[in-house]
Amino acid sequence: MEKKKIDWSNLGFAYMQTDKRYVSNFRDGAWDQGTLTEDAAVVLNECAGVLQYAQTIFEGLKAYTTEDGRIVTFRPDLNGERMEASALRLEMPVFPKERFVDAVTQVVEANAAYVPPYGSGATLYLRPFMFGSNPVIGVKPADEYQFRIFCTPVGPYFKGGVKPLTICVSDFDRAAPHGTGHIKAGLNYAMSLHAIVSAHKEGYDENMYLDPGTRTKVEETGGANFLFVTKDEKVVTPKSDSILPSITRRSLVYVAKEYLGLEVEEREVLLEELKDFAECGLCGTAAVISPVGKIVDHGEEICLSSGMNAMGPVTQKLYDTLTGIQMGRIEAPKGWIHVIA
Ligand code: PLP
Ligand code: COI
Repeated sequence: MEKKKIDWSNLGFAYMQTDKRYVSNFRDGAWDQGTLTEDAAVVLNECAGVLQYAQTIFEGLKAYTTEDGRIVTFRPDLNGERMEASALRLEMPVFPKERFVDAVTQVVEANAAYVPPYGSGATLYLRPFMFGSNPVIGVKPADEYQFRIFCTPVGPYFKGGVKPLTICVSDFDRAAPHGTGHIKAGLNYAMSLHAIVSAHKEGYDENMYLDPGTRTKVEETGGANFLFVTKDEKVVTPKSDSILPSITRRSLVYVAKEYLGLEVEEREVLLEELKDFAECGLCGTAAVISPVGKIVDHGEEICLSSGMNAMGPVTQKLYDTLTGIQMGRIEAPKGWIHVIA
């Protein structure tokens, strides 16, 4: 298979239409068998549930070319599981995780020419999503749904690659206690748009959201979980019922303990203890681990000792080990790598 002629090393995090995508429809209480299509357009009735009451959920995962030339995805079963949980919370039908992994496999196989080559710094980003598709005017769940997966080759999520970011403590809240912060619902992102546009206008790369109940604890950013490193090399990550259970973060916790022999604390992290950390990173599928150099809390600058030029040493080790596992340079724990070709 010949690869597409794409300037792989200069890709940003943007949409590029590829050849094939997967579609399955839910009607009369059941999913159809699903198919690949070249049609990237979705045509909906004006009153579709997703357009009126935002009944939509999504996932994000990547396909990689490994050092020895295979095409793989990373823990797609966990994305399938999380999407099942998201569906249940929004009263949508579950698209079974086994079918999810099969659909991921079909989309990557059908778009193999778009999977960036090993060493290019780019990856193929997959976006599974589901939405209520039939007309709904009273506030209630739709009866019909569409599940789709498209893919797009991407480079780094943050411009500047691994240059440390400056983030600000947001005055906006991301997720209410007992709300939907722990699932991947489109509504969580719609309400973050004003906050991210405001942060960018003020020169910040991202927002740090706090717990809305007390505004004393660190939650996450709009698209990634936090990892901190203490001065004595302990990895600390916020525990909260209203943050997304990041697959990257859960994998890094394992990598820190089992590969690097580091101590890990998953616990509440107070805003007032940020000044005591040596390193900070944002972790997620899109973000991978993006280092944070500075956190600004209403004019007060908290400068991480790792500085504004490079990743901190522990963050770097975590990054190298995780990406080493994803790209086949380091042996993966059983079940983490799903080989497609
Ligand atoms: N938190 C939020 C709000 C996200 O949107 C994402 C991205 O998926 C993450 C965290 C990271 O999750 P994962 O590592 O599973 O991609
Ligand atoms: C991902 O990392 O896959 C996400 O969905 C985050 C989004 C902000 C791009």
